[in-house]
Amino acid sequence: MTTPLRPPTFSPRPYSTQQLCLIFYSTLKLCLIFWSDPQEQDVTENLLQLTARAFVRTTLVGDLDEDTEKAIPTFTDCLHEFSRSVNSRSFQPLLWPDLVFGLTPLGRVVRQLRAKVDAFSGRVIAKRRAELGQRSAEGEDRADFIRQRRTLIDILLDPKSKTSEGTLFEMSDSEILDEVKIFLGAAVETTVAALGWTLKVLSVRPEVQERVHAEVLEQLGGKEGLTSADINKLKYTEQVIKETMRLLPSVPYTARVVREETKFGGHTLPAATTLFLNIVGCHRDPKHWPDPTRFDPDRFSAEASAKRHPYAYLPFSAGARNCIGGRYAMMVIKTTLAALVPRYRVDAVPDGHTEPADFPFTFDVASRMLGGDLGSV
Ligand code: HEM
Repeated sequence: MTTPLRPPTFSPRPYSTQQLCLIFYSTLKLCLIFWSDPQEQDVTENLLQLTARAFVRTTLVGDLDEDTEKAIPTFTDCLHEFSRSVNSRSFQPLLWPDLVFGLTPLGRVVRQLRAKVDAFSGRVIAKRRAELGQRSAEGEDRADFIRQRRTLIDILLDPKSKTSEGTLFEMSDSEILDEVKIFLGAAVETTVAALGWTLKVLSVRPEVQERVHAEVLEQLGGKEGLTSADINKLKYTEQVIKETMRLLPSVPYTARVVREETKFGGHTLPAATTLFLNIVGCHRDPKHWPDPTRFDPDRFSAEASAKRHPYAYLPFSAGARNCIGGRYAMMVIKTTLAALVPRYRVDAVPDGHTEPADFPFTFDVASRMLGGDLGSV
């Protein structure tokens, strides 16, 4: 069995951190345009559009030209349909073979969308490779060129980039395309889920919303064009996001396949057993979380966090295959809240759900509220 490549941690570090925040902040203006319309808005859909745009800019293209703008709806449609396909296939073993699934109406839609995403991303990769090659041929320092706007594909195209195991990347365009698609699938819906849940929690906890609002105003004072240093000042806001992800993790379960017979918790697990890790159960375990269903951002003060078992909190999983976008996601969520909170108040919708721990949820690629409404802005 081969282990898929694992790029270096996709933290803000490979980018200019200032650029990352600025990209998100400028992309956020789109949300502000959506929400300046007095008509009722689908907040999740808005967040999806916003995150997909920001994601495409930081992984693929740097700037949103006309071509990219046109391609964004294809990306978001693809994500929607992909989630739907995960749901319907998971519970229907007959649809597991690609050949059979490909013959269904949903399978055909997914195939067509995937072909469009592949074509767009393939063009971007080929163009970027050509640009980098040309700069090299002209003698310009390649590193200097890509440092100006270093997207994920630049890292993957850079022959000096190393995997987390320290080996050099050598990837073909189609391997890079696969990596980009894995990132797209893993990054966007999970981030949108965390953002959506946080807004929903703020809607039912006005006192928490008030404190986040006060912190953003006090620390940033209505500043435009936020930097990573600004974002790092938002300690309480981060605690709120973390507590939301404790009770309502974007990824409530994950799984591992046991490669060889293993003794675990007093049981013998045969090779090829699939083990499910109940992240949401772990996050509500009273052994680590006193009064576990109470929403309390102070659980994530530096002092309280330091005393906790390191594996009691697993929103980004842990170990060799944990999430490589955790820091990036946190920065996106904080930047988004920092831009939205001073401009909008999130009001609760009268759906009868007032306790975050009791919000009914389901999940496919990421968790979401069952039949629910996020709140109104
Ligand atoms: C709030 C947002 C996010 C959450 C809650 C989240 C959660 C997770 C979790 C739980 C896993 C591990 C699954 C497992 O153990 O089997 C994972 C894997 C992964 N995540 Fe995230 N993620 C988020 C955002 C992102 C972002 C923004 C990126 C990319 C920039 C990303 C890229 C990945 C990748 C590539 C993997 C697979 C890693 C591997 O197999 O080595 N994620 N994510």
